Amino acid sequence: MHKKALAVGIAGLGTVGSGVVSLLQRRRALYAERTGTDVFIETVSARDRDRDRPCDVSSYRWTDDPVAMASDGAVDVVVEAVGGEDGTAYALCRAALENGKHVVTANKALIAARGAELARIAEDNGLALAFEGAVGGGIPLLKTVREGLAANEMTRVAGILNGTCNYILSAMENGGGNFDAALRAAQEKGYAEADPHTDVEGIDAAHKLAVLSALCFGLLPSMEGIRYEGVRRLKPVDFAAARLFGCTIRLLAVAERGADGAVFRAVYPALVNLSHGFACVTEAGNAVRIEGDAVGSLFLQGPGAGMFETASAVVADILDVAAGRRSYPFSVPVRRCIAPSPPASPRETAYFLCISLAAGHQAEDVVAAFAGLGVQMGAVKTLSREGVPYVACLTERAEEGKVPAAAESVLGEDAESGTEYAVLRAE
Ligand code: HSE
Repeated sequence: MHKKALAVGIAGLGTVGSGVVSLLQRRRALYAERTGTDVFIETVSARDRDRDRPCDVSSYRWTDDPVAMASDGAVDVVVEAVGGEDGTAYALCRAALENGKHVVTANKALIAARGAELARIAEDNGLALAFEGAVGGGIPLLKTVREGLAANEMTRVAGILNGTCNYILSAMENGGGNFDAALRAAQEKGYAEADPHTDVEGIDAAHKLAVLSALCFGLLPSMEGIRYEGVRRLKPVDFAAARLFGCTIRLLAVAERGADGAVFRAVYPALVNLSHGFACVTEAGNAVRIEGDAVGSLFLQGPGAGMFETASAVVADILDVAAGRRSYPFSVPVRRCIAPSPPASPRETAYFLCISLAAGHQAEDVVAAFAGLGVQMGAVKTLSREGVPYVACLTERAEEGKVPAAAESVLGEDAESGTEYAVLRAE
């Protein structure tokens, strides 16, 4: 028998919660070996007690109101798998920490919005606030940054952080074509958020970037200043055009330290070379490239969503609590984290454009119009889809925002000509 024991309360039995229950059930003996502590489920809670679930919870004490777990004297650690940045999830986590219970969650929206406040309570009370599953699904990403790369100053982190969008983009890239069908498939596999708008508009990736960039750069977790755009406007023709340049398209989340020390943070669909690791990430995969001043460049890839994939990260956090391994949630004491602000001078980047040509318009006219606004094209190619001619161009490096502004001015919302275009940064 192991002398120590850790009683777990699990609130929320959706995809992530069910995966956590299953792993803790099946591997109790192994986890006891690994931590020297008997980690067991004391109680569970969910909105609907009678729903069919992939895990059997009939032997556990049922808690009707999940927030009551926060004051349940039999619970040592609360696993919040309810979701959402406020409401029950927030009330539960805050009350649990105030009542001396460790908190483990995979809730990126909550940590992006309330992580600083929760970390303060956790640190003041000597408790764990752990959220490995919030970013990068099953990839042990935050642990890598916080512990494995503790010797480094980070300069840049860029990654594919939303499995649902990557699933949709891979489908489009491979001729699956239909945005709605790909989104439905991602929902059926349990990858998408309750409101998939959060995924496809880039908000979920922005939440994750808020958390990841906090750990990388000593920032307070916050959505403040993160610009985000999603994948809804992309069309199959954009992938065909990208291919002409030996590239594809991925939704990237990027945080980059500027010359003045401030950090640029944005989520956007980007042109990615087919030889880049990001191009090889398909379906709900995630990947992150981290650049540290001592280690150089590191590439981590793995499953970004899914029941056991995310539960793998959540259970690892529980086992850290069981083994007594504790670290500052955001790498440094949260009171030492600074508020994020964008660099004073805009960064430069090359852009990729895919533009439909209205009747009578030539590719040269488009290129000349951009040149008139100070945007130089490095390479220009043409293609045709369903009888519509397109021009695809790669610009020289230009100040962030200059090319989208020029595109707006040259192409506008010209309803009569029916011009359609995509403007993407090149990674
Ligand atoms: N909706 C998220 C995604 C789930 O698609 O990546 C994992 O955080």
